[in-house]
Amino acid sequence: MTGKITFTMIKPSAFAAGHAGQILARIEEAGYRIIALKKVTLSLEQAGSFYEMHQGKPFYDELTAMMSSGPIVAAVLEKENAVEAFRTFIGATDPAKAAEGTIRKLYGKSLSENAVHGSDSDESAARESAFFFSSLEMF
Ligand code: CMP
Repeated sequence: MTGKITFTMIKPSAFAAGHAGQILARIEEAGYRIIALKKVTLSLEQAGSFYEMHQGKPFYDELTAMMSSGPIVAAVLEKENAVEAFRTFIGATDPAKAAEGTIRKLYGKSLSENAVHGSDSDESAARESAFFFSSLEMF
């Protein structure tokens, strides 16, 4: 499935604000097929493990605390050129710099509370999908 899948999470702030349904609707309207979906609350350790590549960066502690602060929605999505297409669709990491109409512009509050995560490469998409879902749960 390389090249056709990406992984996303609706972050705790967006979930708490009641935006999960709207974000999923926009994702589907944009042509992504949901091939796995779940609601889960990460422990601080699990958030740290998911974002291990950012360990040591100034924003790591804030990011992992925020990501373990409440429920998230994790999903694996399928579309042609999924990683790049989804990153364009959600907008820049910083909601203040995200293009009009993108998910982060519409629902993001700050750099850490930027509404959604999107994989940055096919390798990340595979790792991140496997972090949350078994092969039996992706179809
Ligand atoms: P995400 O796509 O989940 O990947 C890493 C996250 O770190 C990113 O979105 C942001 O929420 C968060 N973050 C906080 N500060 C920064 C920063 N200065 N640069 C990049 N990412 C940041």
